[in-house]
Amino acid sequence: MTVLSPHIENIKKAAHALQNGSIVAFPTETVYGLGANANDGRAVAKIYDVKDRPQFNPLITHVKDLETAISLADFSRSALKLAKTLWPGPVSLVLPQKHKTKISELVTAGLDTIALRIPDNPIALQLLHEANCPIAAPSANISGRVSPTLASHVAQDFKNTELIILDGGASTCGLESTILHIQDGTYSVLRPGMITQEEIQGIIGDISCNSTPSPALSKETLLSPGQLKSHYAPKAALRLNATKFFPDEAVLAFGHNTISNHITTKFNLSPNGDLHEAAANLFKGLRYLDSLDVKKIAVMPIPNVGLGVAINDRLARAAA
Ligand code: TXA
Ligand code: MG
Repeated sequence: MTVLSPHIENIKKAAHALQNGSIVAFPTETVYGLGANANDGRAVAKIYDVKDRPQFNPLITHVKDLETAISLADFSRSALKLAKTLWPGPVSLVLPQKHKTKISELVTAGLDTIALRIPDNPIALQLLHEANCPIAAPSANISGRVSPTLASHVAQDFKNTELIILDGGASTCGLESTILHIQDGTYSVLRPGMITQEEIQGIIGDISCNSTPSPALSKETLLSPGQLKSHYAPKAALRLNATKFFPDEAVLAFGHNTISNHITTKFNLSPNGDLHEAAANLFKGLRYLDSLDVKKIAVMPIPNVGLGVAINDRLARAAA
């Protein structure tokens, strides 16, 4: 594991590593990604290997521009509208894959759809340009652990892995992308994230939201295995919506409050009750409390509106 500053020479070095079949960790606006050339099956396999990721879990493909995205998938009118409005940005679109692309089957885990996004981070974009290939990248953490929002989080998880890590500082969003599946004039949110349902509705309000994923897909394979309940799990047990606290617990706090004032082992996601700040701090807070080797973490209630929906989704998984 080598951590490099995001100097252009280092980005070129990382791009070469990708072209030569190595994996590279890089910053995005959501969380750090563990990337491989999406056209190189052996390189993609390294991701599954070092992450200890179940084989059936498909990866998001990151591309440098809309033209590349359109060469890989069929965009409906609504999908194009979303892409034009929200990319580069924290939304991934699951779309029918074009036939005869060079994308490795391991990336899509055999599905005939592909998840695409253009990340909104200058280092990630430069890396995509220099490497000149689509980059398949899940979050850069060992499977089942919380997503990394700092280069040091990645370094912690992959201490003994041969890997370049581009250090781009803290991720500005701190929460993974929203994943949308668009098909047959409807869409479903496979994973809530930075872009809220309200924003999506505002862009493609003319098509309807399907709250239950298509049975045809979910029968054969989990539609989005990221929906697995245990995907985001710290070592400590989580107790959600806690309004009273026990002495053996650490507290993940939210907002200005006096109830948890006497508790010393705590992390406040946002003392001012700002959901954006809370989202950016979520994984950092969970990692921090986990690093104290506490057995239990009591989580204060987070309002279930806007970004709070995604935060509560992650917390529910972490508690499962
Ligand atoms: O913000 C993010 O999305 C970050 C950064 C690095 O871009 N990436 C990320 O990737 O969170 P990952 O692999 O941890 O989560 C990808 C999710 C998984 O739940 C996977 O099952 C789902 O996307 N996915 C990928 N391709 C899919 C497909 N064709 N159909 C349904 N779900 C898919
Ligand atoms: Mg992940």
